[in-house]
Amino acid sequence: MSVDWSERYRTGETPWEKGEPHPELSFLLSGHRGLMTEARSVLVPGCGFGHDAHLISSVTRGEVLGLDLAEEAIDEAGSRYSGEGLAWTTGDLFQWEGTYDLVFEHTCFCAIPVARRPDYVSTMARLIPAGGHLLGIFFLNPDHEGEEGPPFGVTLDELKGFFGGTFEMIWSQPPSKTFEGRKGDGRELSILWRRVPERMEKR
Ligand SMILES: C[S@@+](CC[C@H](N)C(=O)[O-])C[C@H]1O[C@@H](n2cnc3c(N)ncnc32)[C@H](O)[C@@H]1O
Repeated sequence: MSVDWSERYRTGETPWEKGEPHPELSFLLSGHRGLMTEARSVLVPGCGFGHDAHLISSVTRGEVLGLDLAEEAIDEAGSRYSGEGLAWTTGDLFQWEGTYDLVFEHTCFCAIPVARRPDYVSTMARLIPAGGHLLGIFFLNPDHEGEEGPPFGVTLDELKGFFGGTFEMIWSQPPSKTFEGRKGDGRELSILWRRVPERMEKR
């Protein structure tokens, strides 16, 4: 069953919305200063109310774009956060055009239908040129047994299967901090992927 994200925002059925950036994000940003200073363009897909995108824009000199399918989310992000180099737009990630040195993923991959995961990877491969990065906090295990997603869980091996070949995994680590309701071993994983040159892609 597909989710009407706008309806979820209109009715306030937004359990992912925590009112702040992911607690691990400051740590990731300080651990990857070089990536942040070098990035000229950053995309945050499925940005929701924009907390992560706003924090990223405070540490990078590049342009940061928060993108979300739901106009309601983008309106709220725009009313909360503004600043030089920070922009918001409503749009479908799968249709999005552009070139980004860095994409930050947090609860977007787990929100899209499982059948569209290969499209997510090919979209990232299209938006990120060789040498560019995808930094993500992946929600592996939403721990909602019996209930249907989203969020839809994924294993590390599945992630390697989807991204491997077009992206190489540079680094992965369980977050040292997270939201109260997401604590527990193996529930989330921070991963830095680098886009490999097309000629070196393994299919
Ligand atoms: C679980 S929410 C997470 C929001 C935000 N990342 C956060 O953690 O607060 C997933 C978000 O992805 C957006 N979304 C779902 N499918 C999308 C698509 N195809 N393109 C862009 N955004 C999408 C939804 O509207 C929603 O805001």
